[in-house]
Order: sequence, then C-alpha cells, then structure tokens
Amino acid sequence: PAATVIAIDGPAGTGKSSVSKLLAQRVGAEYLDTGAMYRAATLAVLRAGVPVDDADAMAAVVADAVIALDDSDGATVVLLDGEDVSTAVREAEVTANVSAVSAHPDVRAKLVELQRAVARGRYVVVEGRDIGTVVFPDAALKVFLTASPQARAQRRLRQDTAAGRDTDFDTVLASVNRRDHLDSTRAASPLRPADDAVLFDTSELTLPQVLDGLITLAEKRI
Ligand code: C5P
Repeated sequence: PAATVIAIDGPAGTGKSSVSKLLAQRVGAEYLDTGAMYRAATLAVLRAGVPVDDADAMAAVVADAVIALDDSDGATVVLLDGEDVSTAVREAEVTANVSAVSAHPDVRAKLVELQRAVARGRYVVVEGRDIGTVVFPDAALKVFLTASPQARAQRRLRQDTAAGRDTDFDTVLASVNRRDHLDSTRAASPLRPADDAVLFDTSELTLPQVLDGLITLAEKRI
C-alpha cells in the first residue's frame, strides 16, 4: 500500500523539526526525521575514523551501518548498530560533517530506500531536504519552509544553548549558511523546493502560527 505523505523540506533553522512533530500529532500521522538518518550515517563514518573526503571508504562504512529510528516512546530514538545515539548525532562534529556524507549518492540511495520502507502504508509527516523532490514526489502535501539566515541562526542558537552546547550567534550563523550552501549545491538531490511545493516563510512567525498554517494546508489537501 502507498504511503500518505506530508513532505516538509527546507534549510536548517526554519523550525522544521518542531513544527513537523507537532503537525504529526495534530493530524494523527506518524513523524519521520530523515536528517537523523543522515546524522547517524555521519556518526558511523566519524567513529570508523574514515575521512569524509574518501568517498569510497565512507560509502562502505555507511553500507555496513545499521541505522534505525524508534518512535515507540513518543520521541525519536536514533539507533546506530543497535546503540542509542540520539544525543551523539546532535554534536557539532556530526553537524559539521553531515553535508559531506549526505552528498554521496550511495549514502542517499540506502537512506531513501529505508525512508520509503518505513513510510509504506502509513500516514506520515516526513521532514528533510529532498522529500518532495525525490523521496516522495507523489506526496499529498509538500511544504518548503524558508526563513532569513538571521532568524534561522537565532533559532539554532536557542536550541544549542538549551541543549547545553557552548556556542555563539556568529558561529551558528556561519555553520547554518555553510551547511545550506553545501546542501543546495550538491549534485545528488540538492536542497530545493519541488515545483508543486507551498513556500512558507517562517521568519516573522511563532511556532503556533506556523503550525496553524500547516494544519490549514493539510485540511485542504488530505
Ligand atoms: O535536518 P537536519 O539538520 O538534522 O539534517 C542534517 C543534514 O542531513 C542536512 O544538513 C543535510 O546535509 C542532510 N539531509 C539530507 N537529506 C535529507 C535530510 C537531511 O541530505 N532528506
């Protein structure tokens, strides 16, 4: 059976994860965080001590890694070879290297297959970069969230600070801009809105406002 998908794509810091989780709850769908899968793949590469510019070695490590998400307790638990790596995948070293790992076509092929398998036969809000363009081109609703770089860096800084990671605005802004540049300019499934995606600028909006907007869209389309 086909999946019923709400695709939420966009760059880092647009409020994608927060709003996707809440949207899934409100419409009675499941939630799939595809970025967490790319982060787990990146952690596997870093732990193997393989340089991220050694494409073949890197792809071999990811091919052997067992990546899974467990949502049975409400929050997403990220599993790498059976180990809970939910905290480790948010660390700065993973964030700094995830764009290089996720640019590899073999890495993408493996994770896209996993994403389609997880969604099969379900109603699911899927969050990522290429969900509306590549993973689920037939999604019932495609949303592309945007926000100014300043708004995105401010949100990420708040999240990092709340999670106890030591950083500052300029560092976060540089990291957000660098990652979005790499994600948008890669050859394999670059970050871009699907032709039929609804563009949604969240710069000046609160989370409840963005959520309301998405619920209205979902009610119209699904
Ligand atoms: O969403 P999150 O910030 O956790 O994503 C981490 C990284 O994973 C992104 O910067 C991007 O390089 C990669 N990614 C991707 N395709 C997706 C989801 C994430 O390439 N569908």
